[in-house]
Amino acid sequence: MENMRVLDVIRSIYENQAGDLAYQFACRIGRCGTCAVRVNGVSVLACQEQCKPHMKIEPLQPFPVLRDLVIDRTEVEARYAALALTPQRATEHEGTPDAIDPELAGDICQLDSCLACMVCVSSCPAVEERAFDGPAFMLKLRQMAIHPSDDKDRLQQAVGAGMVECFGCDLCTQLCPADLSPAEAIREFRKDMIFGTGRTA
Ligand code: SF4
Ligand code: SF4
Ligand code: FES
Repeated sequence: MENMRVLDVIRSIYENQAGDLAYQFACRIGRCGTCAVRVNGVSVLACQEQCKPHMKIEPLQPFPVLRDLVIDRTEVEARYAALALTPQRATEHEGTPDAIDPELAGDICQLDSCLACMVCVSSCPAVEERAFDGPAFMLKLRQMAIHPSDDKDRLQQAVGAGMVECFGCDLCTQLCPADLSPAEAIREFRKDMIFGTGRTA
């Protein structure tokens, strides 16, 4: 039990007690983001979370549940698609590689490591109470906002997705299994609101 992860317990239940239990996972190393569940009310990756003696394992809130521990990600994927989270240029690309500052490239790569696991969205009190898409989407919008090949007004998109409803509790950052900080991404957008982004597209 000591070295078991939550996913091991779920698999054991599936294999020994409930062969019809629906759950999902892919990588088992904290990289795919598919195994996220709630354990005793806290959203976690099942493959990374250490077992506890008493656990209540539930599907991620506030998403619709397909069955047992499997959530319906249709709206999540539609939201990602609607935000157009690849670089959107105002003018046609000339076909030559863009020069990019190595430090900025590192920052963009780091934001790209988001697992889309929805642990942060599931934990965000502003999503629960207000009209706010949630921290994961703000993080990806920030990735585009700092991308030198992107000319779209990402601040406007973030505001349209309810960013101002975030009240800076930092829970999303504390729980992110990829050590990312959606709260910091939001703080950077807020600075842009005050000081401007220089973008108009
Ligand atoms: S920001 Fe972190 S918690 Fe949120 S979806 Fe990405 S990896 Fe998951
Ligand atoms: S900092 Fe903002 S986005 Fe993150 S959990 Fe708190 S309210 Fe939600
Ligand atoms: S199975 Fe891939 S993150 Fe848990």
